[in-house]
Amino acid sequence: MTPDAAGPRATIVVGVTGGIAAYKAVSLVRTLVLAGHDVHVVPTEAALRFVGAPTWEAISRNPVTTQLYEGVDQVRHVALGQLAELIVIAPATANTLAKLAHGLVDDLLTNTVLASNAPVVVAPAMHTEMWRNAATQANVATLRERGVTFVGPASGRLTGNDTGAGRMAEPDEIAETALAALKRRGRGPRSRRARIDEASDAGRLDLDGLRLVVTAGGTREPFDPVRFLGNRSSGKQGMAIAAAAAARGASVTLIAANIGTDALPATIDVVDVSTTLELEKAVTDAAAGADAVVMAAAVADYRPAQVQQGKIKKEHTGERLTVEFVVNPDILAELSAAKREGQTVIGFAAETESDPATLLELGRKKIARKGCDFLVVNNVGWNHGFATDDNDIVVLNRAGDIVMEASGSKLSVADRILDATLSGREESTRHA
Ligand code: PMT
Repeated sequence: MTPDAAGPRATIVVGVTGGIAAYKAVSLVRTLVLAGHDVHVVPTEAALRFVGAPTWEAISRNPVTTQLYEGVDQVRHVALGQLAELIVIAPATANTLAKLAHGLVDDLLTNTVLASNAPVVVAPAMHTEMWRNAATQANVATLRERGVTFVGPASGRLTGNDTGAGRMAEPDEIAETALAALKRRGRGPRSRRARIDEASDAGRLDLDGLRLVVTAGGTREPFDPVRFLGNRSSGKQGMAIAAAAAARGASVTLIAANIGTDALPATIDVVDVSTTLELEKAVTDAAAGADAVVMAAAVADYRPAQVQQGKIKKEHTGERLTVEFVVNPDILAELSAAKREGQTVIGFAAETESDPATLLELGRKKIARKGCDFLVVNNVGWNHGFATDDNDIVVLNRAGDIVMEASGSKLSVADRILDATLSGREESTRHA
C-alpha cells in the first residue's frame, strides 16, 4: 500500500504486549511502514520475551524501548503520546485491557496511551476462558464505550491444543482497521452521542436504537437420538449480519441454529436452538420486541413424522429405510403475517438456479408467497453460498424490484443488506 492509498504520512504507535501472537505483529508493523507511515513500536517487557527489540527496530526503522525512565529529559511517554496520530495495540493481553480500562500506568505503553488523544485500535489475543471472563468483557465494554476500536479476536486454534475465541485477528485485517481509524482521526475524545452523530455521518452507528433479531445457521430435525436431517449452513452470513448491525449500534439478538458463536461480540444476545420448532418459538418470542427480523437461517421445510427413542438399527430396517416427513411451519411467512406497524421483516432465498433471470423470477415468486418486506436472493450450490466466506446477492422489495446487488465477503454483503433494508428507516418507525 502506498502513502497515497492510505492518506498522508502519519505517526503511529504500535503497542505490543506479551503474547505469542507478538510474532504476527511484525507483519502488521511492516504493512504500516510500507504504507508510508512513521511507526514507533512500544513493546512491553513481556512482549520482548516473544520478539526482541532488534526485530522491532529493523522493521519499524525507529529506536525501540520499553523503559519509562529512558529519555526522561524528553518526557518520552508524553512526547510519544502527543506525537501519535493513531495507537494500535496488537496483541493486547487481558492484563493490558484491564490496565487500559482502569487507567493504570506502569510501563511506557500504558503511559503513552493515557497521555494521548489519538484513536486507539486494539487487537486482543488470549485464551477463550480469559476472553469470555466477565472481568475482561466488562473492560472491553468500558473501552468500547470510550471509543476504542476492537478488531477480533477471531475464533480458531489457540497456542495449546485448544480451540475457541481468542486468536488475534490477522495482521492485514488489523492494518485495514487501523488505517480506516487513521482516516477518521483528529477528533479527540468523543462522547457516545458525538460518536453516534459522527458515525451516522460516515454511515456507521446509523442503527443505534434499533432492536434487531437475526437467525443464523441450519436447523436439525432428528430421526432418532443420534441422527438428524440437516443442511450445510455454517451461519457465517447470519452472524456477519448480526456483527455488522451490532457494530452500527443496533441491539442484536441472534437465534443461532447449531453454530458456534464464541467469536461474536459479547454485546450480541445469543439464543441457541436446534430444530425448526425451537427456532420458531425463539424467533417469535424475540420478534415481539424487535424493530426488524432477518431470517438468514436455513430452515428445514420438513421434519420426520416420528422421532424414534432408540437408534434405528439396520437389522430391523433391512436394505431400505423409509422415513415419513411432515411439513414444518413456514416461520418467515408467519412473522410477515404477524408483523407490527413499523416492523421490517427480511427473508432470504437460497436457490440452486444459476441463470440470473430465472433466479430473480424464483425470488419474486418467493417474496410474494412469504409476504416479507425484503428478500435477499442468493444462489447456493455444492461450492457456493453455503459455508463459504463470500456471497453474491440481490435484494428485492415487495414489488419484486431490485433494490441492491452486492458481492464480496459475507461481512461486506451484510453491511450492504443493512444499508438497503434498514439504515433508511425513520427514527419514528424504530420504536413503533
Ligand atoms: O450460513 P452460511 O453458510 O453462511 O450460508 C448462508 C445461507 C446460504 C444459508 C443464507 O445466505 C441463506 O440463503 N439463508 C436462507 C436459507 C433458506 O432456508 O432459504 P429458503 O429459500 O429455503 O427459505 C426462504 C426463507 O424462508 C428463508 O429466509 C428461511 O429462513 C425461511 N424459512 C424457510 C423454511 C421454513 N420452514 N421457514 C422459514 O422461515
